[in-house]
Amino acid sequence: MQTDALVAIRAGKLFIGGEWRDAESGRTFPTINPSTAEPLTEVAEGDVADVDQAVRAARGAFESGAWPAMDARSRAKLLHAVADGLEARADELARLETMDNGKPLREARMFDIKESIECFRYYAGWADKIYGDVIPLPGPYLNYTRLEPIGVCGAIIPWNYPLQMAAWKVAPALACGNTVVLKPAEQTPLTALELARIASEAGLPAGVLNVVTGHGETAGAALVRHPDVDKIAFTGSTEVGRIIQREAAGNLKRVSLELGGKSPNIVLADADIEAAVRGATSAIFYNTGQACTAGSRLLIDESIRDEFLEKLAKRADGMRPGDPLNPKTRMGPLISQEQLDRVLGYIEKGKSEGAELVIGGDRAEVSNNPGYFLNPTIFDRVTPEMTIAREEIFGPVLAVTTFADLDEAIELGNKTDYGLAAAVWTQDVKKAHRAAHALRAGTVWVNMYHTLDTGSPFGGYKHSGYGRELGKYALDLYTQVKSVWVNLA
Ligand code: NAI
Ligand code: MG
Repeated sequence: MQTDALVAIRAGKLFIGGEWRDAESGRTFPTINPSTAEPLTEVAEGDVADVDQAVRAARGAFESGAWPAMDARSRAKLLHAVADGLEARADELARLETMDNGKPLREARMFDIKESIECFRYYAGWADKIYGDVIPLPGPYLNYTRLEPIGVCGAIIPWNYPLQMAAWKVAPALACGNTVVLKPAEQTPLTALELARIASEAGLPAGVLNVVTGHGETAGAALVRHPDVDKIAFTGSTEVGRIIQREAAGNLKRVSLELGGKSPNIVLADADIEAAVRGATSAIFYNTGQACTAGSRLLIDESIRDEFLEKLAKRADGMRPGDPLNPKTRMGPLISQEQLDRVLGYIEKGKSEGAELVIGGDRAEVSNNPGYFLNPTIFDRVTPEMTIAREEIFGPVLAVTTFADLDEAIELGNKTDYGLAAAVWTQDVKKAHRAAHALRAGTVWVNMYHTLDTGSPFGGYKHSGYGRELGKYALDLYTQVKSVWVNLA
């Protein structure tokens, strides 16, 4: 086992009602460093009983005590204090994220941790600006609305952006006055535990944020089924999203789902080719392709195909994976053996269904490490019917298809069950907006890829889910409207 002072001293415990506790069963499970394939530490294996304790703590904190009594401006101050706490420990958190998830340290620091801090600051700013309307009605009435918290929110998050996904859910939920039970992914539980510690040190009252580590089918499912949870916010696979929607029906929980994607990245003939090549590379290889918004389908105008592919393959070759703690590394390993097997399976499917392998397709040797490293992979001559054009691979595997004109590009772009993101590269402002309007996706980028900001809404069309996180839109996910009538007659 790897020993590192950083690897949470408090790992092995759940955070419930302001206290660090063992799982009721006493069981733990290892969390693995994907770049060495070795366990980092043991984490408590929360289950039904622990989830129940956490929900009780969250209910208690929602109904009575310091939290409901706190005015919105004080809540804002607390969220700023959480952001300060994250900021003070940003380098450590980045290292922890890199060891638990495998992403390059530079990216963890510059994106994951930085964006998580921003997210807490942004919703700290909203906390005292969440209010209703006075509605002029006929009759001798005063009618006004209040935006009230929903109650106990369950947050179930994936392993690809562990702290950031926690922030996206916890920050707006708390800003709106809810309490939270957070279930991090079993592959990457460590930064969620640190978030709980930082929030508690910042003064967040006991029970307001609880963290139960554990597996999806046990701890996650218990949270989704719990009759005293009012809302579930989920990010993860479409398959589990469907299960959650069904299982949450018991007490009619509010549900918001941010699910998979198979996003088209469209390059028109008039695009700035160099910029589009750079964009297409990071679109698919950023985070080793383990991004719900990954630009996994590259659609290029047939007239620029040869030139574009040549440049793309060269650039991809320069992105071979390396040790994520090395500051020069641009791409780390996949998250797990399971994910590596899944992705290799898709690569085999690509070959057997007739796609042409341009580069990669094989495991990468990284300084004798047995980690889950895979070389950047590009398939050309992919048709829309092929499995690698339809299913979310969640790895560094790009499917390239050509088109004859913009109409065909849009048609191909929309030929998917998913609708999370899309991009178009062109110098023609008319074509850019035509594509942006016609593509059925929650985010469309023009001459850029992967940019997100806490101020701008994010979420899916079609099987990519519903509900919008980030921006002022997230407030809708964590509040409910009350109409108050006063008889003035
Ligand atoms: P997953 O959807 O199973 O896991 C995401 C979260 O849901 C984890 O916290 C997990 O513990 C929890 N979970 C799993 N089953 C649950 C259940 N029955 N009830 C409640 N919670 C449950 O994703 P997984 O298995 O890690 O990855 C499989 C594939 O899913 C990936 O290859 C990728 O294609 C996709 N995925 C997409 C993500 C996205 O952001 N769009 C994120 C993670 C995975
Ligand atoms: Mg799963």
